[in-house]
Amino acid sequence: MCGIMGYTGKKNSIPIVINGLKSLEYRGYDSAGIAYIYKNDIKIIKEKGRISNLENELEGDSSNTCIGHTRWATHGEPSRINAHPHKVGNITIVHNGIIENYNELKNKLIKEGYKFKSETDTEVACAIIDYYYKKLNDKIKVIEKLKDVLKGSYAFLILFQGDDKIYATKCGSPMIVASSMNGNFIASDIPAILSYTKEYFLLDEHDIAILDKDFIKFIKDGKEIKKEKLIFQFDTEVASKGGYKHFMLKEIHEEPKVVKDYLDYYFENFDLIPDISKYRKIQIVACGSAYHAGLIGKFLIEKYGSIEVNCYIASEYRYQLNFIDKNTLVILVSQSGETADTIASLRLAKKNKAKTLGIVNVVGSTIARECDSVIYINAGAEIAVATTKAYVNQVLTFSLIAYKLGLKNKLLTEDIKKEYYKLPNEISKMLKLDYHKLALKISKQNNVFFIGRLIDYYLCLEGSLKLKEISYIHSETYPAGELKHGTISLIDSGTIVISIVTDENISEKTVSNIKETKARGAYVILLKRDDIIVDETCYDEIIDIEKMSDLAMAILTIVPLQLLAYYVSDVKGLDIDKPKNLAKSVTVE
Ligand code: AGP
Ligand code: GLU
Repeated sequence: MCGIMGYTGKKNSIPIVINGLKSLEYRGYDSAGIAYIYKNDIKIIKEKGRISNLENELEGDSSNTCIGHTRWATHGEPSRINAHPHKVGNITIVHNGIIENYNELKNKLIKEGYKFKSETDTEVACAIIDYYYKKLNDKIKVIEKLKDVLKGSYAFLILFQGDDKIYATKCGSPMIVASSMNGNFIASDIPAILSYTKEYFLLDEHDIAILDKDFIKFIKDGKEIKKEKLIFQFDTEVASKGGYKHFMLKEIHEEPKVVKDYLDYYFENFDLIPDISKYRKIQIVACGSAYHAGLIGKFLIEKYGSIEVNCYIASEYRYQLNFIDKNTLVILVSQSGETADTIASLRLAKKNKAKTLGIVNVVGSTIARECDSVIYINAGAEIAVATTKAYVNQVLTFSLIAYKLGLKNKLLTEDIKKEYYKLPNEISKMLKLDYHKLALKISKQNNVFFIGRLIDYYLCLEGSLKLKEISYIHSETYPAGELKHGTISLIDSGTIVISIVTDENISEKTVSNIKETKARGAYVILLKRDDIIVDETCYDEIIDIEKMSDLAMAILTIVPLQLLAYYVSDVKGLDIDKPKNLAKSVTVE
């Protein structure tokens, strides 16, 4: 998710902004830059990589007004040219967010004579501001106009040539304004200003803030408004997690917005979702949770595309006998885009002339760059080692691929979009449930069983991995029908069995397996689709999940399992964001 920071006041603004950006590093980024007023001009310094790379380029200048940015790339790979700030004509900006209609605007601006240096949507937004500033010659009117012209999310800090004030506005991305005796601040998040002041103001959608050294003005619909001054209570550490106890919990709670932003963007740019119907052999290759997302993808693509799909664990795929050829599509799924086994699998696929598609979160990562094409899941920076929101958007990507196939095969109509748009609200409802009692019970166990069939089995695999990797409780996941082929011998009185039943076509079969475990004393926690009727004697605890199309159901169903795993680990007082022995990206074999 990037960070933005601005300061104007009596002190040298450059070190203040650099320090502010450092306090926002937890938000994840791949490049950084600043722009400051210097000798009646605007000077820009920006670099790929860490803020320390940017610091190496500083020239010891002093300035009273500076804006800065740490970029989490969404449009254009991490590079100095794509880094912010961007300057077009009389306008210099930094931006947090995604401009969905940037392509259309860019084509219009090129016809107006604009030339672009970067691949970013931000530079297009900068040119739009310059274009309308030249037309309207009124800064407030220009900024007011943005809500009619731009689609998507943004938090802008804007410098106008010849004016040493900072102008700001937002739509869907966070921004706070703060005041102190020595000057005024604006940033994506509170940690950036906490060492200077605890007094801040929140900006509402499309508010405009004007920061001068000595005053702050707020404008709404062309009129100056007053804003309530708030006092921040938390310390910096808690602040960087947005008030949540752990990044993992914060990232789970970001899922409604991450899903909505993803749907808004890809339904606005639906051509970015590939039509894979021409392939007769499709292989999905990934590790860990990404592999589990791939299994959901297999289920949905087979169902709506009537194409056989095989899903492989990358560390196996790269060494097994393979039947890859030029008619094969190999889909590589990776949050980090740097997982060694998945990269090796990608290179093996390319060596065998297969077409490769990446489903990746980190823009410009190795897998993203080396695949023939890539779909970015736009989940923002994921700090917790255990993936949650990225897994959700990986599954959502497969769902949209299957949706496109279903439209083509006339198995679906566009009205299924309503199902997708129910997701943010339904996820929010799942976030509100109380998991503490169940978590306490599970936390006392040494073993937990997960059972399900088909897509429910694939969801069990992910739920089980979440529990194992952050609570260190051993759990087994079995296709429900497989239990009686050996492992049911492990079910004792009180053994916890978590079962998922969301597919009505096989619900009775799974329920009969659940009964087999109950008959042997199991304590059953059942996650089921709310319209599927199950006899109360079959379970001890139940989590009902709103019935949705299977294109969306998996995404809703994983949320309680993510939260259960989180609360079990929290009860045990473990290091949830950095579990022992684990790394966020496994860049070694
Ligand atoms: C996620 O909870 C796991 N820690 C891990 O399995 C992860 O999914 C796997 O390492 C793959 O990572 P990637 O998506 O970055 O390739
Ligand atoms: N979409 C912009 C870019 O890719 C901004 C991304 C961000 O929020 O850092 O440069």
